[in-house]
Amino acid sequence: MKKLSISILAIILAFNVSILFTSCENSEKDADEAAAEMTEEANEATEESAAEETVTADYSAGEAIYKSKCMACHQENGEGLDPSFPALKGKTVNLDMVVNGKEGTAMAAFKNQLSDQEIVDVVNYVDHAWGNNADDITLEDVAAVKK
Ligand code: HEC
Repeated sequence: MKKLSISILAIILAFNVSILFTSCENSEKDADEAAAEMTEEANEATEESAAEETVTADYSAGEAIYKSKCMACHQENGEGLDPSFPALKGKTVNLDMVVNGKEGTAMAAFKNQLSDQEIVDVVNYVDHAWGNNADDITLEDVAAVKK
């Protein structure tokens, strides 16, 4: 009688332990899943805020002008070509240079090739490309430097 109750007790104990184990496994799995979900959500949030940034500051018109009028010399990455063409990356655009050019060099006076609005667009693009971060310029700024 005593033996029987001991073995019943042992069975009950074993059963409880196995329940404990499975529930542990489950909660571990749940925690992993929750962590994965959180990472996913965080990634989505970052993507969304990146997309919002592009919407609030749209330099796509300037980017198109850069690609057709400036990229051949200053390069797609803005690093120029040493020693002939200076980098635009890591600088604030010298507006006078873009508007009036520099005689005796390959840098043309773009007031003869682009409208004032196109100059504003391309300068503001360059000033926000490749990590550049200068204040936007306006049509008045272009008019003020024209020679
Ligand atoms: C045919 C080649 C060529 C093209 C195209 C060109 N540039 Fe230049 N750019 C130069 C050269 C060469 C200089 C250096 C002039 C000098 O000797 O100071 C220069 C200088 C500059 C500078 C001054 C850089 C500094 O170090 O401060 C800016 C800003 C600039 N260019 C912007 C532009 C923009 C914007 C465009 C397009 C609208 C453009 N460039 C198109 C050749 C070019």
